Amino acid sequence: MIASDVELGDGVVLCQPDLINLYGCRIGSGTRVGPFVEIQKDVEVGSNCKISSHSFLCSGVALEDGVFVGHGVMFVNDKYPRATAAEGSLQTENDWTCLPTTIRRNASIGSHATILGGVTVGEHALVGAGAVVTRDVPDYAIVAGVPARVIGDARTKTDSVRHETSEYVMNL
Ligand SMILES: CC(C)(COP(=O)(O)OP(=O)(O)OC[C@H]1O[C@@H](n2cnc3c(N)ncnc32)[C@H](O)[C@@H]1OP(=O)(O)O)[C@@H](O)C(=O)NCCC(=O)NCCS
Repeated sequence: MIASDVELGDGVVLCQPDLINLYGCRIGSGTRVGPFVEIQKDVEVGSNCKISSHSFLCSGVALEDGVFVGHGVMFVNDKYPRATAAEGSLQTENDWTCLPTTIRRNASIGSHATILGGVTVGEHALVGAGAVVTRDVPDYAIVAGVPARVIGDARTKTDSVRHETSEYVMNL
């Protein structure tokens, strides 16, 4: 279901749109979204991102350009969730605080990672498969585990980052 209030940039590819749930979000040009993905209202997705199947992007999430989201990635925006408000009726939007999460440009989130609300994942960072990210991740860091800890530097691993970093150093 692609709601009428969704804003799609040029060349956005929705793989099997009948199996994708998008509402109230904005998707930048050239981004690809896989099947069984749900993207909630007010989410901002940059250009040329890849969002793999079965991932859930809740309100409060912002992906900058070139972000990779693996399969089954879960974003979280409510740190202390409750079904009901104090008097027992179902909670409304006024009964909880939505925590914002930012994934900076060209970062990658491994499959089945969980990103808690209120964190920023730095540019070109790599989040390992299955990690639970509870704190900010520095630019270029590789993090893994539960809770996620820094285990390496992405500049030593992927050609695209090495190339961009060496160009940057040459231009200094
Ligand atoms: C996190 C990651 C980038 C690390 O790669 P790397 O830097 O080459 O690390 P290594 O494989 O050399 O492993 C280093 C250590 O971290 C551990 N490790 C690697 N990935 C891990 C993960 N996801 N969770 C927990 N520990 C992990 C290894 O077991 C190893 O531990 P050891 O030193 O005690 O043996 C990679 O393993 C990963 O998870 N990539 C994401 C892949 C993915 O989800 N792709 C999505 C689409 S297919």
